[in-house]
Amino acid sequence: MLGIDVGGSAVKAGRVDVAAGRLLGQLVSVPTPRPATPASLMSVLGQLVDQLPAGGSIGIAFPSVLKRGTAYTAANIDPSWIGVNAAAQATADFGRTVVFLNDADAAGLAEMRWGAGRDCRGTVIMLTFGTGIGSALFVDGRLFPNTEFGHLQMNGRDAEKRASAQVRTRERLDFPAWIERVNEYLLAMYQLFWPDVFILGGAVSERFPEFAPLLRSAAELRPAQFAGQAGVIGAALAAAEAAA
Ligand code: BGC
Repeated sequence: MLGIDVGGSAVKAGRVDVAAGRLLGQLVSVPTPRPATPASLMSVLGQLVDQLPAGGSIGIAFPSVLKRGTAYTAANIDPSWIGVNAAAQATADFGRTVVFLNDADAAGLAEMRWGAGRDCRGTVIMLTFGTGIGSALFVDGRLFPNTEFGHLQMNGRDAEKRASAQVRTRERLDFPAWIERVNEYLLAMYQLFWPDVFILGGAVSERFPEFAPLLRSAAELRPAQFAGQAGVIGAALAAAEAAA
């Protein structure tokens, strides 16, 4: 199965063994076009589909609320995506069934099936720290889709505008300064949802050992295991499940 993850800075694609939850070969990564309009992004997606021949349907992890293939929000992509039935358009363009789902939901599916959450029951919240903050909520292993916890209001602003990985880089925050913001966010989330486990993902989670001693939370904290690959693997899994 082909999995694709559309991020704020890069579009990543890879062939995935959906029985084992691992990539077959290398991940291909291309810069996200600017502006990331439906036309420009569809053309990049088409190139990736051609470059990575694979059978069956295609799963695409996308930074938006998605219902039945239609995008409802566009925090970190071009607003012209709102109202577009991305799945119908891609299915027509690529001649194969294309499934779109929220990027953090995709990453969470991969982590819950094969990664950091594979033995977790109860309430699990996966958070991805990247251009924004993505979220995926699981109760006893079942996904409650399209949560947008990165937009939780903190001090009158979206949490992702204070605590995403992009903000850390842009404001040149060291780990203590950034983690102070992350801890405030985790506390606000904990008080609302009482999760048993937080899984922390996004590329920055590869540096978990460096900042783990600074993290504070009443819920158990686990680093994501697939880090930058979770979206691709989870998107392929969602496509496989939709096909089944
Ligand atoms: C978007 C979410 C997305 C997250 C991570 C947020 O700004 O609203 O839909 O999951 O960024 O990309």
